Amino acid sequence: MSTNQGIRPARSGEQATTPPAGRRPRLPGRVRDDARSTVYWGAAHGLPRVAVRTAARRGDLQGRLIVAGAGGGEVWDAVEQVRAAGPLYRGRFAFLTVDHAVTREVLASGDFRAGSPVRTGGLLGGLMARTAPDLLHPMEPPSLLVTEPPMHTRHRQLVSRVFTARAVQNLRARTEQIASELLDGLVTAEPVDLVAAYCALLPVTVISEILGVPPGERPRVLALGSAVAPSLDFGLGFRQFRSVTAALRDFESWLTGHLARLRREPGDDLLSQLIVARDQDGGLDEGELKSIAGLVLAAGFETTVNLLGNGIALLSRFPEQLGRLRGQPELWPGAVEEILRIDPPVLLTGRISIRDLDVRGVAVPAGSYVVTVLAGANRDPKVFAEPETFDVARANARDHVSFSAGRHFCLGASLARMEGEVGLRAFFDRYPDVTMLPGARRRANRVLRGWSRLPARLS
Ligand code: HEM
Repeated sequence: MSTNQGIRPARSGEQATTPPAGRRPRLPGRVRDDARSTVYWGAAHGLPRVAVRTAARRGDLQGRLIVAGAGGGEVWDAVEQVRAAGPLYRGRFAFLTVDHAVTREVLASGDFRAGSPVRTGGLLGGLMARTAPDLLHPMEPPSLLVTEPPMHTRHRQLVSRVFTARAVQNLRARTEQIASELLDGLVTAEPVDLVAAYCALLPVTVISEILGVPPGERPRVLALGSAVAPSLDFGLGFRQFRSVTAALRDFESWLTGHLARLRREPGDDLLSQLIVARDQDGGLDEGELKSIAGLVLAAGFETTVNLLGNGIALLSRFPEQLGRLRGQPELWPGAVEEILRIDPPVLLTGRISIRDLDVRGVAVPAGSYVVTVLAGANRDPKVFAEPETFDVARANARDHVSFSAGRHFCLGASLARMEGEVGLRAFFDRYPDVTMLPGARRRANRVLRGWSRLPARLS
């Protein structure tokens, strides 16, 4: 059944595809086998990379968007070209939308499922299924990001049970304290990189406390998080693919040890509670528990670091907006929404159609991938007046889709909002005269967008 008016089953040839039921069966033999890993890279990244570049040169807008976004590059020209092409653009490899209403409908629709963009079937899909490394991956089942009901509902309920809004609210005072301690430690006499010294540390400290990661292990978790972040990207080079795969393996082995430690010595952290809930219910197997814990941990800081960095960069670039916040601090929560809207930490996500559909008059066959460009939907002029203007008092800024929509809506949204508000406000209250210095750099990732370096002088 269609869940909304804009998306309808196509009249003929309707065929439902089956969502994946669980983690791939274990592959025989050693998955680190070089030949196998090269074949997988070629199918999942190498060939698509060449095809996308060729398509971009020939004018394909999806290709242009991907190429433009490489190395954190500006994507806005490509986004506006997609908008001009209509609510749903049929690209060489997938459909693309920057339309706010279509984005929300696709993300919330039961006619689409979440899943990996390069695993929509066919010869390449089959090859990838046979050669994929068997390791914990955010875009492979049983990751919450790509599972669907009933499994997704069951897993999500379990996390939501411990990750409540009240639990987050209780963390506010502690987050203020952590922010204040980090700001105390910043050097003011010489230039400082705000990403390394502040934006990255605040979220990892908060989520580590929530998940019982001991202070001594946080630098390792932070380094592993950055190393695995490109795993969400498409078209990785071979060396980068190898280093991301190695980092995913290290992260999984660290996580295995961490869960074993919490089982032996449970704390009052949320992960210890999740382990108890799992062990009592028996509703999750060990792989599922690891996947959920790993995703919550990594998503807990790899995105919020971008919110803080993007916020500092924007407010320094638009001092009159910062001035408004000084005069009216009650505008801070709305300012965080506006930062999320105009420079979202997650560029895009996507869904796979499970039957033949008609979306705004465009035929979408079963098994098609539809890329929902969250950053583009956030600048839809039908919803946001003067969408390119950064306005901390924008009345409907919260209508952005930076946390996605529907059943995969970000589980950490209230935590991220709270950290964004506390972290940015504390920073600008403490260092009102911050001067940004040359040498700022965007992160090289395509899907996760933010700054890798923000040099500044604080006084
Ligand atoms: C500014 C910060 C953040 C942004 C922009 C963000 C964005 C997103 C987006 C776009 C999705 C959905 C992707 C899709 O629909 O395919 C998502 C899902 C998710 N996020 Fe976040 N996130 C942020 C912070 C956090 C934090 C702090 C946590 C954890 C504490 C978290 C945990 C999760 C989880 C577990 C999911 C999977 C939910 C599901 O599939 O049911 N996120 N996030």
